[in-house]
Amino acid sequence: MEYEAVILAAGKGTRMRSEIPKVAHQVAGKPMVLHVVNAVRAVGAGKIILVVGHGREQVQSLFDPVADAVQFALQEEQLGTGHALMQAQEMVNPDHNVLVLPGDTPLLQAGTLAELMRVHEESGAAATVLSTRMENPYGYGRIVRSEDGTFQRIVEEKDASEEEKSIQEINSGMYCFKAREAFTALKNLSTANAQGEYYLTDILELLNQQGQKVAVCLLDAGEDIYGINDRVQLAEAEKILRRRKNEALMRSGVTIMDPASTFIDLDVEVGSDTVLYPFTILEGQTRIGSRCMIGPSTRIRDSIIGSDVHIESSSINQASIDDSCNIGPFAYLRPGAQLGPKVKIGDFVEVKKSKVGEGSKIPHLSYVGDSILGKEVNVGAGTITCNYDGTNKWQTILEDGAFIGSNTNLVAPVRVGSHATTGAGSTITRDVPDHALAVERAEQKHIQDWKLRKE
Ligand code: UD1
Ligand code: CA
Repeated sequence: MEYEAVILAAGKGTRMRSEIPKVAHQVAGKPMVLHVVNAVRAVGAGKIILVVGHGREQVQSLFDPVADAVQFALQEEQLGTGHALMQAQEMVNPDHNVLVLPGDTPLLQAGTLAELMRVHEESGAAATVLSTRMENPYGYGRIVRSEDGTFQRIVEEKDASEEEKSIQEINSGMYCFKAREAFTALKNLSTANAQGEYYLTDILELLNQQGQKVAVCLLDAGEDIYGINDRVQLAEAEKILRRRKNEALMRSGVTIMDPASTFIDLDVEVGSDTVLYPFTILEGQTRIGSRCMIGPSTRIRDSIIGSDVHIESSSINQASIDDSCNIGPFAYLRPGAQLGPKVKIGDFVEVKKSKVGEGSKIPHLSYVGDSILGKEVNVGAGTITCNYDGTNKWQTILEDGAFIGSNTNLVAPVRVGSHATTGAGSTITRDVPDHALAVERAEQKHIQDWKLRKE
């Protein structure tokens, strides 16, 4: 059977106390609503419709219109969850099934949706609601069942009697409908309730009264349906998602010494036998190879790291690092740093928009920007590429085997030829020929007995 999905994401999320719409807040490096979209995509929904309203530009901007293939329905005024679904009617094929989900449940996993869909199909119901039992069901809609255990209706906390409030089976806010039946029932919704809203939950009661089958998929899914209303809950969801990611990596062969202090975004890939030391943060689209040692205290964002790489106490953003490199402690690799194999970048070295060839070393206290380094180049401590003249950035080229003496200033544009040497402390402003020595500094003078004469 074919499925489409409608994700309700028009609400403001007042309790977040934020300028950002609730579903756009990040959890484990990804906006909340994207986690929901990913789960829906994983179960093969043919069309994904997002109902947007509050902060809709911000929500829409989270998606790539082509690559993400998400469609948007606009709910101008937030008149309730039933009203939100009405806005998507034109876009849903009445002959299909439709999953209806809230946009603020980032812990939702495909397996849980698949279970909901399975129950829906096996029961042949017009509507299937996902429910779970909670110790403290406060705030949720409760599933009211008749004496024979079949579904009767859902009652909201604010409309519930004392007896109904004691029911511990709650409505997850996730449903599967036969689309035609759902949209027909929506036409009969009223706002005669405590909140004066069109409750989506009421259509299940309407369908039930019409003699259509309403099924309940009761799951042990506490975590998956966890809705985020404030930043305390946001942090709890963050913790759960991080734990899931760490556990998946550990099961795939990554050693994480202290999972509690290791933060890895969901899309990050790490190869087997890599060891992650405490306080390692891996973000965005980072990929790390096998047998690496990363951390402690290292942050890597949107970077590609090969195998057998060691990185300690460093910050790396949009860089690529080939196999067997040795980085840090205290290195800073910025966008466009591209290191070949076996490169050494040592302490207090910053590299930006530069290629560094195989086996080259920049061991201490250097800035290398807008540069191309060949193979086996040695850059002495304190070397600076003077790449910026206040208006433009210029390139420095250090050819294979060049040896840059300590404290060299390389005033770009400038080239040091292959196997050329610069004397320590030189300010190099002109190209150095291959195999030459360039020295640019005043000759050392001695003033004899200087100290004695002062006395
Ligand atoms: C809803 C359910 C409740 C269930 C709970 C689960 C109803 C009437 N109640 O309550 O039974 O236990 O979810 O979390 O449906 N939204 C819109 N437009 C609106 C209103 C809401 O798009 O006009 C969106 C919100 O952005 C949110 C979702 O719908 O993503 C749920 O809305 P919310 O107000 O949080 O519903 P609850 O009161 O929690
Ligand atoms: Ca809610």
